[in-house]
Amino acid sequence: MRIAATQRLPGPAWEELPELEMLEAWPPSESLPGVEALIAVVVHVSADELDLLPDLRLVANYGVGYDTVDVAACRERGIAVTNTPGVLDAAVADLTLALILACRRHLVESDRFVREGRWQRGWAQPELLGRDLAGSTLGLVGRGRIGTEVAHRAEAFGMHVVHHRQSDGLTLEELLRTADVVSLHVPLTPETHGLISRERLSLLQDGATLINTARGAIVDEDALVDELVSGRISAGLDVFADEPNVPERLLGLANVVLTPHVASATVETRAAMTRVLVENVLAFIRGEPLPNPIDR
Ligand code: 8YV
Repeated sequence: MRIAATQRLPGPAWEELPELEMLEAWPPSESLPGVEALIAVVVHVSADELDLLPDLRLVANYGVGYDTVDVAACRERGIAVTNTPGVLDAAVADLTLALILACRRHLVESDRFVREGRWQRGWAQPELLGRDLAGSTLGLVGRGRIGTEVAHRAEAFGMHVVHHRQSDGLTLEELLRTADVVSLHVPLTPETHGLISRERLSLLQDGATLINTARGAIVDEDALVDELVSGRISAGLDVFADEPNVPERLLGLANVVLTPHVASATVETRAAMTRVLVENVLAFIRGEPLPNPIDR
């Protein structure tokens, strides 16, 4: 069976796969008849790409979020899609807390302050005065697996955690008005695209912090940049609407901490994600039920 991959993945499980074709370019420069399984790593898989893979039966997506894969187009063609849920919740929650701490305690600015030789008195400048996590309110937009892990960590820091999700909790507007820190933990779907609109961003309190380790397009990015340029709020952003492009206007701002989509990027977690992906590909090869099919 011909299996193609857009990238090699880290961790020992990778070696359990049979021989693979590593694709030099994505989308492929020519049609790839005979390829039945595709290992997709941070690439868009839409109808145009599927046209180049006429015999495809499986798209194994490296990541829990599969917004880059046109699942409906796959379904129409009888192509199964799998993802890697459950193994990256702790790592993403850790980075979320790291961004909360970095923003609320001016961690990056403080580091820069020392390196630039600006620390000249016993105490640093008042602009480096942070805010306590203890006693502050964290508003979670989405409290699934990752949101729950974030909640546990935040509670250990003494934060009061509230949440919004369709079925229960505060309304989104109430949450945005009351939280000191808002953190996004919903998948990117047509329903959540632009969910944090300009109008909703304006509901955030002065001095509030927005954390996004989910997907950039959940937020109106232009509106977020405007708010950050105004200095009214701060943000910790691991994800952007058009990665790897980061809005130029953010680069000089002290009230935003930027990371390059690294929330799941630990040795252990990436290896575990590879393990889940490999189990799905091996099940497909053996004709067994797929452990993590996307069936929405
Ligand atoms: C990955 C992610 O970095 O799982 C996800 O949805 O965004 C991250 O874990 C991404 O999928 C690329 O591997």
